[in-house]
Order: sequence, then structure tokens, then C-alpha cells
Amino acid sequence: MASDPHELVFADERDPLIGELADGWSPKRIGVCSDGSRWVIRPTIAEYSVYRLSERLDMSVIPETRRFRGGSAQRLVDGALTAHALDGDLYEAVRTPVAVSDLASIIALDVLIGNADRHANNWLVGDDGRLIAIDNEFNEPTRVISLYHAVRPARRTGMLDDAEHAPALIAAIRERFKRAEEALAVDLAGQRKELDEWENDLVGGSPR
Ligand SMILES: Nc1ncnc2c1ncn2[C@@H]1O[C@H](COP(=O)(O)OP(=O)(O)OP(=O)(O)O)[C@@H](O)[C@H]1O
Ligand SMILES: [Mg+2]
Repeated sequence: MASDPHELVFADERDPLIGELADGWSPKRIGVCSDGSRWVIRPTIAEYSVYRLSERLDMSVIPETRRFRGGSAQRLVDGALTAHALDGDLYEAVRTPVAVSDLASIIALDVLIGNADRHANNWLVGDDGRLIAIDNEFNEPTRVISLYHAVRPARRTGMLDDAEHAPALIAAIRERFKRAEEALAVDLAGQRKELDEWENDLVGGSPR
């Protein structure tokens, strides 16, 4: 049993992989846990990092994601359809209060991680009407924050020009930005305190 609570353990650790995800550009393996839950295996850790950020900011639009063998494993959401697959039904699907709220979370997260890859196969609508962000690892530390790229799902669904729903979406994105600023301020204040203590511990009280 792994001691790291974020590490995923499959029923049969020697061979947890039962198949491949048919969709997508690169084949993805699927693992099954002892409780029957299915997990999408991705080779890099970025998906997990972005999931942790989404939880930290209380923007829960990414399925539960764990560490797995240097990469990540993400809960496969049953019954969800990609924005692409929803096609004509997408317009209505994103115009509920809960979907507008989730859309704002996806957009704010994409701004924060510099994700310009939120095409219609990288977000889904669950059978409960919630929006789901997957494939969140297309981000580079050097990529600049871009609202233009992040609003791609809103553009696709006509929300940017929808006078009835756009104001609620814009207000929700603003609220997410504020939430992220506040969380960052809290985290940095903690780090500043550590710096102060470090400085105070120096012999003579003065830093190098
Ligand atoms: N957690 C998930 N729950 C439900 N369906 C998923 C999940 N992850 C992926 N899928 C489905 O699998 C498809 C492909 O997944 P993903 O976007 O991660 O692969 P990809 O586009 O091939 O990735 P890459 O860009 O790394 O090659 C998605 O469009 C979606 O239909
Ligand atoms: Mg993808």
C-alpha cells in the first residue's frame, strides 16, 4: 500500500491496465481499481498539478486526479459527452446557472495555467449538467496568461455575444479571478512569514 494518499493504487498493481481509450490523439490506457472505478492514465504529472490547483481554488471542474507512476490517473466520468459530441444540444447545456458557473471556473483556470488547448474534445458535459475539464496538461511555464485563448469554450457556445447570459458569465469569471488573487496573497503571505523567520534566525539579524 502506498503511503502517499495522492498516489493511486490499482487492484492488481502488476497489471492495472485493462484497455485503451478509443478517443483522442494519443492512445490512453484505462485502469480499474478494486472498487470498479475506472481511471484514465496520462504520462505526465501536469494533469495532477492542475487538479490540485483547481481544488485549492475551489473550482471543482476536473475529475478526481491522483499521482500514478510518475504521471497521473484521472477518474473516468461515465455518461459525460464532449462539447464536440453534444453538437446542437451544447447551446442549451451551457446556459444553466450551474454550467455558467463551471464555465467560469474552466476559463479562470485556463487563464491561470496558460492553457490555449480547450477545444471541444477537452471539455465535457456530465449527465448531471456539470461541466468537466480534462486534458489539462497542455501548459508551459513560459506561456503567458491569455483571456483571449481561455474564453474559447464561451466563444464556441455563443456566450460572448449572448446578452442574456454573458453578464452572469463575466461576473463569475471576475469572482474566480478575485478568489485566485486572494488565495495567492494568502499563500505568499505565508511564504513571506517564513522569509522573515529565516532572516531573524540569521546571526546578527542581518541577511547576506
Ligand atoms: N476523465 C475523463 N472522463 C471521461 N472521459 C474522458 C476523460 N478523460 C478523457 N476522456 C475522453 O477521452 C478523450 C481523449 O482524452 P484526452 O483529451 O485526454 O486525450 P488526447 O486529446 O488524446 O490527449 P493528448 O492531447 O494528450 O494526446 C476525450 O475527448 C474524452 O472523450
Ligand atoms: Mg484532448
